[in-house]
Amino acid sequence: IRSRALQTMDNVTSLGELEDLRVKFLGKKGELTSILKEMGRLSKEERPVIGQIANEVRNEIENKINCVKEELIEKQKYEKMEKEKIDISISTNKERIGHRHPLLSTIEELEDLFISMGFTVVDGPEIETVENNFDALNSPENHPSRDLSDTFYITEDILLRTHTSPVQIRAMKEYGAPLRIVSAGRTFRFDDVDDTHSPMFHQIEGLVVDENISMANLIHTLDIFIKELFGKDMKTRYRPHYFPFTEPSAEVDVTCMACRGKGCPACNNTGWSMELLGCGMVHPKVLENCGIDSDKYTGFAFGMGIDRITMVKYGLNDIRLLFDNDNRFLEQF
Ligand code: PHE
Repeated sequence: IRSRALQTMDNVTSLGELEDLRVKFLGKKGELTSILKEMGRLSKEERPVIGQIANEVRNEIENKINCVKEELIEKQKYEKMEKEKIDISISTNKERIGHRHPLLSTIEELEDLFISMGFTVVDGPEIETVENNFDALNSPENHPSRDLSDTFYITEDILLRTHTSPVQIRAMKEYGAPLRIVSAGRTFRFDDVDDTHSPMFHQIEGLVVDENISMANLIHTLDIFIKELFGKDMKTRYRPHYFPFTEPSAEVDVTCMACRGKGCPACNNTGWSMELLGCGMVHPKVLENCGIDSDKYTGFAFGMGIDRITMVKYGLNDIRLLFDNDNRFLEQF
């Protein structure tokens, strides 16, 4: 029994098989047990001798079973680990991780700057009413920007916003005065595409309404903003301009980034980057259109092209680079 048991156990490959063998040799109806059951028939002298041998055999078989059991469990563990192994050195070229688009980086940088100056970021829809985009902003019925050739109309009363200024209207109507907000997003104008024009572009709009707000606050705010964005040596220059929703209005030039004001081909040797911003004091009629008392409150507003700023910031010479989604371009940021 002993040699048969030990030999067969060497060939066992699973825990189930091992258990079958245990029952076969040591179980209640097993081979060894049936021998022990016969012990009664032996003589007094034979009994202890046979009993001892039987016990030895049982111990040996039990030890062997435990050994084989441990080996099998170890083997199973190892096989499981082999199966579940992850090869961390395999290349994962297929799943390339994306990153921020230069336009989004610029938007976030601009928003963060204005947040640090106490502004709140608000959002507005890209599909707007003619009322919010033109009428409430005091834009005259015959203003050329309303023209079908400049504006994407969806119906007679609905259009793709031509600037972010309708967000001013929404904010003033919703929150009233005092107010300090910025809003960035997509804007649309019927332009042919070239290296500086795109029918879809981006603006960021700012609006401050409070008591005693003056042109000095506007100039100071934009001056600090430009210095923070481009560097302490940057200057701003204000040229009178016309916008229906601000009075007085100005266009703002900023020190040329390429030559820091010394004069270079990029700025036609003027030292100035032209028309980076539009701004002005909010027209009293616009405040009144939004239910704000224009005797008590005044405000300033400004708007600028984010695409232009991104191009200046990264030294890009073609606005189309920002929208083509060519990976060779995007991977550089
Ligand atoms: N909305 C103007 C534009 O699109 C910019 C602007 C905003 C001007 C706010 C003045 C005040 O050109």
